[in-house]
Amino acid sequence: MRILICIGLILILGSCNSSGDNSESEKFEYDLYHPSEMSLLMNHMLLVNDSIKKQIIAGEIPQDFPKEFLAIDTAVMTDTKFRTEIFDAYSKVLIDNQKDLFDTDVAVPLVDKYNNTINTCLACHKTECVGPIPKIEKLLIR
Ligand code: HEC
Repeated sequence: MRILICIGLILILGSCNSSGDNSESEKFEYDLYHPSEMSLLMNHMLLVNDSIKKQIIAGEIPQDFPKEFLAIDTAVMTDTKFRTEIFDAYSKVLIDNQKDLFDTDVAVPLVDKYNNTINTCLACHKTECVGPIPKIEKLLIR
């Protein structure tokens, strides 16, 4: 049960419109038990990048591009208005940067490749969905 509450909290805190100025009551209008495919994918991307961050800090080299990220092109969103041309442009940059991270032919330091990826998350979020920005900023390697 506690786990369910935690998941619920993560979803509330992570939801798109839960930027600082929303009131508590507004936050609880989100449908906790039916996150969109895109929400699930985004939360997955958050976790995977967090583990990539830990690997890089530990001096390891991340091995495999997580192919499931490609679903960003098709995943159903909470609100279809998010899938704009800007969204498609940013998601392409995200996938390119995330792939470069695993491509040893790309001669950019691993930390920079990683931070470029996270900055692409942030760039899209600044235009489309500001709520999760504080969580995403924690992924940056400073
Ligand atoms: C192309 C634009 C775009 C990019 C790039 C992007 N996001 Fe998102 N993100 C969104 C949108 C839009 C939503 C809302 C999805 C929905 O509610 O269906 C979202 C939602 C989220 C959420 C909240 C999910 C929830 O619980 O509702 C998190 C966390 C998140 N993104 C993290 C990330 C991370 C980490 C990255 C980079 C690896 C990333 N995002 C890249 C647009 C983007």
